[in-house]
Amino acid sequence: MLDGKQTIFSGMQATGNLTLGNYLGALNNWVSLADSYNCFYCVVDEHAITIRQDPATLRANARKVLQLYIAAGLDPKKCCIYYQSHVPAHAELSWILGCFTYMGELSRMTQFKDKAAKHADNINAGLFTYPVLMAADILLYQSDLVPVGVDQKQHLELARDVAIRFNNIYGDVFTIPEGYIAKSGAKIMSLQEPSKKMSKSDENENASIYVLDAPDAIMRKFKRAVTDSVGVVRYSDEQPGIKNLIDIYCACTGLLPEAVEKEFDGKGYGDFKSAVGEAVVARLRPIQERFAELTKDKAYVDGIIKENAEKANYYANKTLRKVQKKVGFPERVR
Ligand code: TRP
Repeated sequence: MLDGKQTIFSGMQATGNLTLGNYLGALNNWVSLADSYNCFYCVVDEHAITIRQDPATLRANARKVLQLYIAAGLDPKKCCIYYQSHVPAHAELSWILGCFTYMGELSRMTQFKDKAAKHADNINAGLFTYPVLMAADILLYQSDLVPVGVDQKQHLELARDVAIRFNNIYGDVFTIPEGYIAKSGAKIMSLQEPSKKMSKSDENENASIYVLDAPDAIMRKFKRAVTDSVGVVRYSDEQPGIKNLIDIYCACTGLLPEAVEKEFDGKGYGDFKSAVGEAVVARLRPIQERFAELTKDKAYVDGIIKENAEKANYYANKTLRKVQKKVGFPERVR
């Protein structure tokens, strides 16, 4: 509890451009939670290097993601928006927690298995201990709630298990975090393979809409979106492509699926796809405009980065010092 409010922590990878899925499924929820909680929203650049990155690209992408947090509506004076690598306590706590996490637990993580299969030439130790760093992220801020997608639930469970284990040995050190799987957060699928999640790393450029895509690119990708031969705009599992487009349309307009079915009753897929494209363009326009302003105002963004890193370091170090003392590290001499 800080100022009578519970604390939220969440983070996004600093790789690639954010997709419409990242925005509608996550970032948009972060914004709606921001008034009721103390929020720490991190750009997890340390997690990013578990997969080989080009340094200049990583740096540029990390800045983009941070600016997108702000452009999407997070107030950086209220929410703590910062880079993970600017707060050394993350890596330090991660080391300590790694000594309270079992190989067996980490071996069971499905994301590790997936990523190891995908990057068979670079199965590094960081990829294996990724969930420990994530636990450190969360536990450092005594977080109560952690908004995550379903794919991160297993990591969150592990963070809870490690926190409980640590508390059982040393007393109440960590707040035990709860996952927050948003009710309203839309799960957006690929426009080309609607059985797959929309992904930053999809090789098919028509599969994903990026938050910073130009309007004509957005319209073009929706025109090419995979549908079916049924020919009716209906919200049904048998029409996964159309269902996904309806979900996107609803998330951008606030309409319910039934209303969309009615609106497009008797109309063709072409009309519907254009309407979805236009709704997305309209929804993203203010974010893109704000992003462009932030890009021009380097001094302002730098100031935010500095201030928030100080704030994050302050809270993170409070927890880290407590943990270091508990495990028996020698006191600092002042
Ligand atoms: N692993 C998360 C993802 O890929 C990102 C992340 C890192 C995170 N640390 C976190 C999410 C802490 C929530 C809390 O999506």
